[in-house]
Amino acid sequence: MVIQTDNLTKQFKGKGGFVNISLSVKEGEVFSLLGKNGAGKSTFIRTLLGILHPDSGRGEILGQSIGHIQTRKKIGYLPELFQYHNWLTGYELLFNHGLLYKMDKKEIKDRIEEVIEIVGLKGHEYKKIKEYSKGMKQRIGLASAILSNPKILFLDEPTSALDPIGRKDVRDIILKLKDQGKTIFLNTHLLSEVELVSDRVAILDKGRMKKIGTIQELLHSPVLLSIGNINEKIINELKKVDQNIKKAGNQIEMSVYDDELLPKIAECIVKNDGQLYMMKKKENVLEELFIKTVGEEE
Ligand SMILES: Nc1ncnc2c1ncn2[C@@H]1O[C@H](COP(=O)(O)OP(=O)(O)OP(=O)(O)O)[C@@H](O)[C@H]1O
Ligand SMILES: [Mg+2]
Repeated sequence: MVIQTDNLTKQFKGKGGFVNISLSVKEGEVFSLLGKNGAGKSTFIRTLLGILHPDSGRGEILGQSIGHIQTRKKIGYLPELFQYHNWLTGYELLFNHGLLYKMDKKEIKDRIEEVIEIVGLKGHEYKKIKEYSKGMKQRIGLASAILSNPKILFLDEPTSALDPIGRKDVRDIILKLKDQGKTIFLNTHLLSEVELVSDRVAILDKGRMKKIGTIQELLHSPVLLSIGNINEKIINELKKVDQNIKKAGNQIEMSVYDDELLPKIAECIVKNDGQLYMMKKKENVLEELFIKTVGEEE
């Protein structure tokens, strides 16, 4: 495990923050923390990075307690409200960042070439950051987070300022970094982002963890079926997949854990003299789950 927390808690005078979070992230995984504004996502990342001190519980990164100085060098971080030094050029910002990481000058120069290419800012590196658009600022922030070639990358809402194309670019960057074996811890409230890049997700609500698992595990993909000549045998077979199937006339709604089961379900309906008129996965289910999980107001 590259990240591990055990009942980690950080509150501000007993309020806000997060409470008793236990989770672990494997090497090479893209892990997303999902929650609405104020859920405690940024506080959690900042505590893992050692910027905030936890009230109780334990946390480890790369086998060392959180806050360990040597470990910080192996971590990249894109804060949610990245402080831009507007008077610098993108190149100068990255160069200074490299010096802070104690990289040598030749290494910094080579690496700047690479990261500028990765984040798609080629041709803009010598412009002052004050002339950058929001999206370009977010990209230069991402470039500085990956400059030191970290093992783990903490990205706090990396696409909040980007247009749909920019979001896709960042998703592609995340997947490219994952291919290189990096571990990525992502804070977001964008469900599409979570669905498209994450291996596992935790849902945080008012500082407490409500759910954790792979998207498939969390969703149990609801499937709608429309069946003619529906009979007891079919119902009994379907109940083997989901005990709590919902039946209304010839319509069935059920949870299917694994897509591999879909053709088997179709086969079983036909074998038992049913007619399968429709089999459809419900859309936007992550959004439904999210709203159901964190949506209720006090
Ligand atoms: N330094 C602080 N002092 C006091 N309260 C704080 C501090 N930082 C955060 N909080 C509170 O802790 C809670 C969680 O804040 P946090 O920034 O972690 O949420 P978040 O999930 O990142 O939200 P967002 O999606 O808006 O970024 C909020 O109620 C916030 O007001
Ligand atoms: Mg935040």
